[in-house]
Amino acid sequence: MNAKYSLPSWTYTRQPFQWRVNRLAYFATVTVVTLFVFSLAYVYIEEPPFWKPGQPGPPPRDLDAHIVVSPNSKSNLESLPALPSLPRPKQPPSTGKSSSGEDLVSTLSTTQKPKGLRVVGVIFYGRRDRSSILECYLRQNLVSSGGWLDEVIWAANTDDVDDLAWLNRVANASNGEYKVVRMEEKGYGNVYEASFTERNAIYVKIDDDVVYIEPQAIAKAVTTLISNPHALMISANVINSPALGWWHYHTDAAQSFKPELQPNQTALATRGNGMWKNSDLPTWTGDWTHDYSKFENFANFFDVESPEDIPKHRWLPTRNETDEDMYTSSIAATDANGGPHLTNWQIGAQNHYSFFSNLENGELGKYFLSKDYGKGTIWHMRGRRLSINFIVMQGADVLDYMHMITGHPHGDDEHQLTVEMPHVLQRPVLVESQSIVSHFSYGPQVYLHKTDIMERYFNYANDNVCPRHSLIDPMNPERIWDATTSPSSSAASSPSFSSSPSPTPVASRFFVRKSREGVKHLVEDKA
Ligand SMILES: *[C@@H]1O[C@H](CO)[C@@H](O)[C@H](O)[C@H]1NC(C)=O
Ligand SMILES: *[C@@H]1O[C@H](CO)[C@@H](O)[C@H](O)[C@H]1NC(C)=O
Ligand SMILES: *[C@@H]1O[C@H](CO)[C@@H](O)[C@H](O)[C@H]1NC(C)=O
Repeated sequence: MNAKYSLPSWTYTRQPFQWRVNRLAYFATVTVVTLFVFSLAYVYIEEPPFWKPGQPGPPPRDLDAHIVVSPNSKSNLESLPALPSLPRPKQPPSTGKSSSGEDLVSTLSTTQKPKGLRVVGVIFYGRRDRSSILECYLRQNLVSSGGWLDEVIWAANTDDVDDLAWLNRVANASNGEYKVVRMEEKGYGNVYEASFTERNAIYVKIDDDVVYIEPQAIAKAVTTLISNPHALMISANVINSPALGWWHYHTDAAQSFKPELQPNQTALATRGNGMWKNSDLPTWTGDWTHDYSKFENFANFFDVESPEDIPKHRWLPTRNETDEDMYTSSIAATDANGGPHLTNWQIGAQNHYSFFSNLENGELGKYFLSKDYGKGTIWHMRGRRLSINFIVMQGADVLDYMHMITGHPHGDDEHQLTVEMPHVLQRPVLVESQSIVSHFSYGPQVYLHKTDIMERYFNYANDNVCPRHSLIDPMNPERIWDATTSPSSSAASSPSFSSSPSPTPVASRFFVRKSREGVKHLVEDKA
């Protein structure tokens, strides 16, 4: 009787219990698997984990044995003539008593390098095809060109003979301002230990595929670090950065561009043909019902099977910034955590093309935040992960926390620097919004090579930053690139190189406001 009575009640109580256990198990499994996949994605997707875990750093004296400074490797190529210093855009005259507005004052105050301050660039170098563009910007930022970098350390994290030959050739011609550091053992941990050695220097760590550096970007980021000594690091405001792309989308710095599905091959930018300006591009035409924020079958838009088969193509402005238009562009898929941006080259492409518009129009101020009240114009990451393509840190912090930076089991220095350490040390990661640089691509954005974006950065640098035949193109080592004579790419209309008689200084271009009557230069009117 009892059994008969208890059985149904047991069954009755057990069923939901069982169901609950199953549901819990199910959710636990899903959560664990999801977390695992996400952590794998973060750890493996961006950079290969070269670095062997758990290796304690060698003691300082031992370290020297592992480092070769400016090795004299043999190369069939003739050595380069000494690298010329590069012109920097003229800065507006010092204001003094004729105050012309606080905005200008705060901008100008960042352009004078404090006496005795030592600033060292560190390049995590691997690939010569991109670094030739970076080299041009670095040279413009050396002290010998009037910039802030006393020295640049190229940490060669590669054994590729051609990559090393290019680097040695350039370093040899640099009059000692470029130093090559090589590690016997590759890997990020060793790169940090070999490259960061001076407690009192400020370091600017730059990825080798940074393809644009605004002339004041280094000065502004370094100044913001000095004004915020408690900050663990200052990042530049990086174009094509997952966590920042979301911000650029929401502030209208990014515009609507869509891929040219039947590319006009003769209209593509190629190295040396001078093309980079969006004003030369035709307006996009095509099927307005396509949704380019859906990436699964993107190759089908081009009528091909796989992304491998997508032809080299441009992205074209729709010149139609309606909501409907924006929401079907690739950038609409971005989110605050940057996940889709990291893995989809299409979002990178739209950000890069938008940047070319802002660069051409002298409207890099679209990326700026608010006003500088003495601490910079900063965006606080609040412990969210940020890509470390261009960061500024105090040497003492790198040295004191070396074990934490290099202490991730899979060599994920980015997680350590932007998530773990801000939490443990209670020190913020800040983005200086006025420090503008552009970063070409992440590993998963590999099909950015199907666009002509790299060629556009090459042409901009070749014509405007490294003029007079001085961009050293490793893919054509014997070739000297002539700056194009095409009027559309003349230096006069470029905001970053001022050889023309009376160019608007770059700093004041950032404060151009458009009023109803037309363009009004607030700063200059007040002056
Ligand atoms: C370095 O430059 C000097 C002259 O400036 C040259 O004689 C030498 O061969 C160069 N070395 C390499 C490795 O290019
Ligand atoms: C392709 O581009 C070239 C060069 O810009 C231009 O002259 C030509 O008209 C374009 N062809 C088409 C079909 O748009
Ligand atoms: C802008 O896009 C909408 C569809 O989103 C279209 O109806 C309209 O004609 C477009 N305007 C222009 C000027 O192309």
